[in-house]
Amino acid sequence: MGIAAAFRPPVVGLDLGSHAVKAVALRRNRRGWSLLAAGELSMPFGEVGTQAQVSETAATLLDTLGLRRARIAAALSGHAVIVKRLALPSMSAAELAEAIPWEAEQYIPFALSDVQLDYQVLEGPSALPAEALDVLLVAARRDRVLERVATIEQTGRLPVVLDVEAFALANAYQANYPERTDGLAALVHIGRGTTVVCVLEHGQVAFTRDISLGGGAYLDALERDLGLDSASAQRALRTPAVGGAGVAGNGAAGDGVGGVLQDVHRQFVLEIRKTLDFYWSTSRPVTLDRMVLSGGACQIEGLRTVLTDEFQVTVELSDPFRQIARPSRREGHLLHFDPDVDAPAYAVAVGLAMRGERDR
Ligand SMILES: Nc1ncnc2c1ncn2[C@@H]1O[C@H](COP(=O)(O)OP(=O)(O)OP(=O)(O)O)[C@@H](O)[C@H]1O
Ligand SMILES: [Mg+2]
Repeated sequence: MGIAAAFRPPVVGLDLGSHAVKAVALRRNRRGWSLLAAGELSMPFGEVGTQAQVSETAATLLDTLGLRRARIAAALSGHAVIVKRLALPSMSAAELAEAIPWEAEQYIPFALSDVQLDYQVLEGPSALPAEALDVLLVAARRDRVLERVATIEQTGRLPVVLDVEAFALANAYQANYPERTDGLAALVHIGRGTTVVCVLEHGQVAFTRDISLGGGAYLDALERDLGLDSASAQRALRTPAVGGAGVAGNGAAGDGVGGVLQDVHRQFVLEIRKTLDFYWSTSRPVTLDRMVLSGGACQIEGLRTVLTDEFQVTVELSDPFRQIARPSRREGHLLHFDPDVDAPAYAVAVGLAMRGERDR
């Protein structure tokens, strides 16, 4: 084996979003996780990226982070995937493998030839009788899988893992908060166009649903209702409108901004409420212990307060680097990444990096 073959390039968690691409590379040794590289690049002009733009942006990001020969763990979200929890009678692994397509046919609104199926038998406490199988079924649209793979290949890197964002989110949370014993926690990852909700029962994935609403809805509303340009709208999301008394520097009427944000908060809360109600309609009536926010848009002014008031639970920001040692300035590569401010945005990327390194 030559030197090149003996050197295994790291697995990089690559979160290919519509607003930005984020990358995380981790190392794992006996003492735990440490950070090799992390960074983010937004799409050009702050627009929603085309496939070619996403791929180019990802390539630039990976180059800049010094990850030339990376192997990539990426994920799908939104309408590209359906996750369904099934209760099946007890059977052997071989019988289950045979039963899955038949079961899937009932629940998947696509032809089986158009999807790729995967599944996992859930262990741990569940509402099912002891002899039943608690199965998480995943169906990913084949065209979206192929598109993701092409996006990665166009960066010149090798795709090795294609996960589901909700699972990556759970992965990062479980690794970073291993001591948590909440009966019911909701992870809410808010991006630009999609919000991923992942419900954990005793730390295990019990339900997921992706909502088509995120930071983009706030930007659209600010642009539409207040006539802000997109840069000012971005700033308005970030700048705390202190006492509703104005957003510094962008020339917008601050009260107007606060009102618009409140309108979208209401829509957002309604969608989260519908999602949790749907989960509760299929499960035991367990009360929610905690809501954990992540994603680029989770720090939008006032959102945490609105969620706290609505659900009467602890709502906190996720720190996906909580159990990860930071690099010294010399050895680590960082790009547009300040862990103290940006950490929550990286929850999916961290989960993917961990998943990839574990599967090596
Ligand atoms: N500091 C901040 N405060 C508030 N909002 C922010 C902040 N930084 C970014 N955003 C908003 O977060 C959104 C982008 O989040 P993120 O980077 O998670 O999206 P994405 O993963 O590219 O999108 P998606 O997953 O929906 O395809 C944008 O709407 C942006 O305006
Ligand atoms: Mg995202």
